[in-house]
Amino acid sequence: QKLQLSLEQIEKGGYDHFMLKEIYEQPKAIIDTYRGRMLANEGIIKMAGVDDNMSKFLNADRIIIVACGTSWHAGLVGEYLFEDMARIPVEVEYASEFRYRNPIITPKDVVIAISQSGETADTLAAIKLAKSKGAFVFGVCNVVGSSIARETHAGAYTHAGPEIGVASTKAFTTQITVLSLIALKLAQAKGTLSTSAVNTYLQTMQQIPAQVESLLKIDAQVKEIAAVYKDAKNCLYLGRGFNFPVALEGALKLKEISYIHAEGYPAAEMKHGPIALIDENMPVFVIATSRGHYEKVVSNIQEIKSRSGKIVAVVTEGDETVKEIADHVIEIPDTEEAFSPLLTTIPFQLLSYHIAVMLGKNVDQPRNLAKSVTVE
Ligand code: G6P
Repeated sequence: QKLQLSLEQIEKGGYDHFMLKEIYEQPKAIIDTYRGRMLANEGIIKMAGVDDNMSKFLNADRIIIVACGTSWHAGLVGEYLFEDMARIPVEVEYASEFRYRNPIITPKDVVIAISQSGETADTLAAIKLAKSKGAFVFGVCNVVGSSIARETHAGAYTHAGPEIGVASTKAFTTQITVLSLIALKLAQAKGTLSTSAVNTYLQTMQQIPAQVESLLKIDAQVKEIAAVYKDAKNCLYLGRGFNFPVALEGALKLKEISYIHAEGYPAAEMKHGPIALIDENMPVFVIATSRGHYEKVVSNIQEIKSRSGKIVAVVTEGDETVKEIADHVIEIPDTEEAFSPLLTTIPFQLLSYHIAVMLGKNVDQPRNLAKSVTVE
């Protein structure tokens, strides 16, 4: 029997879809992103684009992050990272809003543009505007030599490798990896974190790829959960702190490829609106990591339970409390809260993937969406 494989099948490397392949590539993609930059044992972070422009970063009044879509969510994680570690005020802007708002930009601002493709029209226009006002513009792109990479003053590539699936996965986790390294580097330079705290973070980062690898083994469990909730009409995603952006990203992934309506919310905001929607038909996906605002999130989970909402909770390994309340728990390995988005996002990627496949949707090329949006 002749073995016939199409070029596409070869490119998918044995996976049914590019998206699944890219989800599974994340341990390697994260290593590729920090390789050569992070010398964890020596406590050194080398990033030429940051080193060469350190005074710009250190003298910045604030950092403005501009991006769209999933990259904007990575930017939100960046806000938490920069403010927490390096104590620099950060604003995160949708590039499309920023560019048309007559924004206040000065030469003392550092603008970081995040873009997988490096071609998003709104992000490109936002950085051109920022440059015209004298700001220093730094790019975090995946595609080497892309328009945004060329238009920025300096930058750091994510090295995630080609991302083909329209729904972004490994680009997101590698963007967060780059932002973590920049935040730590600035914290080191400013002295806002002690040497031992930086070293602990670096050692912890080094464990992330293996933790993602072990986390991917929950695929079968996530598939079972997907089967339970695939016919939901609406879903709610909740998280706090570093994991609030992960809730937004989880909801976006579900919308993009399964066409199920989903909302991401900061868990504590639930009481200001979304709680009105909760009934037995409403699955709520909650991130309740042990080092986050755990007790607060647990009480949110209780509020959902008392309104008969279905709860799928992403918890830290060994959690006992949430297990008693939630309908399903997905365990992630323990890490620093600042790096937990790199882990908590994985089950949501898998969940969206399996639901979309079960519903017979075109996972890699969802309707109405484009991988790179070069028109505004
Ligand atoms: C499109 C893609 C998204 C992506 C967004 C921003 O909407 O479908 O996956 O997050 O553009 O793209 P960028 O290439 O700038 O990260």
